[in-house]
Amino acid sequence: MRVLFLTHAFNSLSQRLFAELRADGHQVSVEFDIADAVAEEAVALFRPDVIVCPFLKRAVPASIWREHLTLIVHPGVVGDRGPSALDWAIHEGRSEWGVTVLQAEAEMDAGPVWAARRFPMRAATKASLYRNEVTAAAVAAVREALARVDAWRAGRWVPCPADECAGEQGDWRPAMRQADRSIDWTRDGTATVMAKLCAADGYPGVADALFGEACWLFDAQPGPPSEGATAGAVVGRRADGAVLRATVDGAVWIGHVRRSAGAHPFKLPVQIAFAQQVAALPLTADADAEAIGYRESADGHVGFLRFDFYNGAMSTAQCEALRVALEQALARPTRVLALEGGRDFWSNGIHLNTVEAARSVADESWANINAMNDVCLTLLLATDKLTVAAMRGNAGAGGCFLALAADVVWAREGVVLNPHYRNMGNLYGSEYWTYLLPRRVGTGAAGAIMADRLPLLAGRAVEAGLIDACFGRDLSAFEREVAARAGALAGAGDYPARLACKRAARAADEAEKPLAAYREAELAQMRRNFYGFDPSYHVARYHFVNKSAQSWTPRHLALHRETGWRVPEDEAEAAT
Ligand code: COA
Repeated sequence: MRVLFLTHAFNSLSQRLFAELRADGHQVSVEFDIADAVAEEAVALFRPDVIVCPFLKRAVPASIWREHLTLIVHPGVVGDRGPSALDWAIHEGRSEWGVTVLQAEAEMDAGPVWAARRFPMRAATKASLYRNEVTAAAVAAVREALARVDAWRAGRWVPCPADECAGEQGDWRPAMRQADRSIDWTRDGTATVMAKLCAADGYPGVADALFGEACWLFDAQPGPPSEGATAGAVVGRRADGAVLRATVDGAVWIGHVRRSAGAHPFKLPVQIAFAQQVAALPLTADADAEAIGYRESADGHVGFLRFDFYNGAMSTAQCEALRVALEQALARPTRVLALEGGRDFWSNGIHLNTVEAARSVADESWANINAMNDVCLTLLLATDKLTVAAMRGNAGAGGCFLALAADVVWAREGVVLNPHYRNMGNLYGSEYWTYLLPRRVGTGAAGAIMADRLPLLAGRAVEAGLIDACFGRDLSAFEREVAARAGALAGAGDYPARLACKRAARAADEAEKPLAAYREAELAQMRRNFYGFDPSYHVARYHFVNKSAQSWTPRHLALHRETGWRVPEDEAEAAT
């Protein structure tokens, strides 16, 4: 089918759905929901069999849904309506939630139901639930809905009217306001504070104050109780910069804030937004909450290094901390080191928000990419053991290439990779990608991946030779299998031969072209991106960090806007 996505943004759910439906053989084109007239034009150009709206912030124009089958993905159970579905579900501590695919009608979220899925809720942020459970449920429900289109057209199947199949499950819920989210530090216990912060993360955060200044709070985790502390007081800091805030019955860590005043009105690590105040706090150890953590298998053969940076973004300081942790992990007497990245994102490359907040954005971009390259280099030079990138979550740009620096790359089923840089203002990219990408897929395919700028499903990435394997229906299945496979790798009879082979390959590659030469050539291009006359990267980063509204759909996503685009029926007619 020709499927047109009408969406507010090409977010994680839209990317996964886009990649899955293309893999199913559908022709998918994307139009951002910018204005009614633009959406109408897209529909006229693409003449879709069905319009799918994976992520909308306003109603579909009647001129569209009256004429064309339009399916809305709602992140709520059947009958639930309103713009803050997931926020309320977390806030109210629901044990189960769901996704409903409904047909657009005049009343928002009230159309007949085409398909629905349910999932058990998990103690996690809204963004994490959205990227994982909601996205998986949406893929399944949209697939089911699309499979019903032919029967519906032939009159053999009718969708269920919302009021008939809603039962007791849901209701219209208004947009959640900051008044609903606000924390009463004198009364709310840790569980309530966590629920409020989780329901608002990644957006919009909870409006509160830190160090006497109004700001929005993000990135919370339960922390160790602090004896005798006044509830609401900031009582400590973690080595990675998060601050500890006392509650009536314990404490929570806060890792990120958005200040409402000042020069940088976007999300930043607390220790950057409030550098002086955080530096004055006492250090409090909490190994489980730290972004970087290391453990070993019971037999000591496999090391696991996790680096769970918020949103997968890696600042200069975080890259340096990771390089040190990596060196320490590599010095351990293990045989295999598995790099686990973060839970939701394996890595998304350099930290564009901390770059944006720097005194010199060019200098900070330069420092960050060099620190990132140093992590890659440490991994590439690790010839004393085998290394594995175990991608539990999505990866983008430099984060993808960091994974390719490992000897073996595995990804969880459903992981979406964006192994390219150009979407960020034509950034050339570094992280030794000019060495790593062609060595895996060949020069021609490497050029196509970079030029296409499209999200790639892990399964497809295996077919393309970009990564080695994709498995695990969910995170715990993936982690279990990573442990088993890494253990098998460490215990295999051919381990010494594999290690020798790796050393020989590295030496041969180095003799042909040193890693330093790849780095130098990439950085010469990056220098132009950062310091040159073309400001595209700085403009793109500014809009990305400040979440500027979309004003057009990129051509590589909007097939119907390609020069010479014609629907196949017209092609056939023109040919006869
Ligand atoms: N630096 C800072 N923040 C980043 C980031 C980065 N490199 N990559 C992602 N984020 C943040 C986003 O701003 C967003 O923040 P929010 O919590 O305030 O909403 C969050 O991570 C999730 O990103 P989002 O874009 O909504 O996720 P997605 O799954 O829809 O898209 C990517 C994933 C990787 C395609 C997209 O985030 C992206 O293009 N990131 C930039 C990658 C890049 O160019 N890195 C620099 C070159 S190495």
